[in-house]
Amino acid sequence: MSGTPPATAGTQGALVCEAVSHKYDKDDGELAALADVDLQVQPGEFVSIVGPSGCGKTTLLKIIAGLMTPSSGNVSFPGHAQDDPPRNGLVFQEHGVFPWMTVLDNVAFGLEMRQVPRVERQQRAAEFIERVGLQEFGSSYPHQLSVGMRQRVGIARAFVADVPILLMDEPFGSLDAQTKIVLQEELLRLWSHDRKLVVYVTHDIEEAVRLGDRVLVMSGRPGRIREDITVPFERPRQLGRGDPAVSELVWHIWDLLRDDVRSGLSLRD
Ligand SMILES: Nc1ncnc2c1ncn2[C@@H]1O[C@H](COP(=O)(O)OP(=O)(O)OP(=O)(O)O)[C@@H](O)[C@H]1O
Ligand SMILES: [Mg+2]
Repeated sequence: MSGTPPATAGTQGALVCEAVSHKYDKDDGELAALADVDLQVQPGEFVSIVGPSGCGKTTLLKIIAGLMTPSSGNVSFPGHAQDDPPRNGLVFQEHGVFPWMTVLDNVAFGLEMRQVPRVERQQRAAEFIERVGLQEFGSSYPHQLSVGMRQRVGIARAFVADVPILLMDEPFGSLDAQTKIVLQEELLRLWSHDRKLVVYVTHDIEEAVRLGDRVLVMSGRPGRIREDITVPFERPRQLGRGDPAVSELVWHIWDLLRDDVRSGLSLRD
């Protein structure tokens, strides 16, 4: 289902990956991490990626972010010159915030990089801190916050920077189930006001289905995209816990991944 359209076919503002493969150099040879990934994400679209540990999800995200060059293949952003890709925001599971900066300075950091004047930066940062419910904590340091609060700081920073693309690598991976649900709702609320192109990597299939317009299922070593599933639920979504429609899709995706996960754990039937 993930065809290979030519880069020129992409809509302005889209993200296009064509036959992206990556091999890491290791002391004892090469490790093929990613093979032949073809992908198009439209502006404003929210795409989730799920797949077992080690299938290359983070590798793909780093390549899209321009932090790594693929061994072969191409990432392009139609409407932008190859050497001038659109700015993107990154939210990782850990190391997302600077420990030596206050919450306010952390959120304002993305604007500082773009030379927005100080007063305006602080105003805009304060507005986004309020949107993620941390108005009491602007002058706190990250170590004074819970893990969930730190992730909210990372999300506020990504949204305040006004970038068209948001790349998220298991941002809620270490949170308890209840905090995760609240932050998922918060993320969708921010996104519905400001529809960025989002690529959201997660281990949690249910989360992928609740959040995404599409779910890309990756597996194998090197990792490939096995399925590209359109999530059929209207937005805004009112999906209750244990919703049978969600469960059905989650089980379908789990069926695709089960063997890969088992073999990764060296388990046999
Ligand atoms: N810097 C590196 N050097 C060598 N090998 C690497 C490097 N980074 C990742 N790998 C290997 O590449 C493969 C894919 O790694 P990657 O981190 O992309 O997987 P992932 O799907 O994000 O896994 P997880 O779900 O555990 O985060 C793995 O086999 C990993 O060991
Ligand atoms: Mg990873």
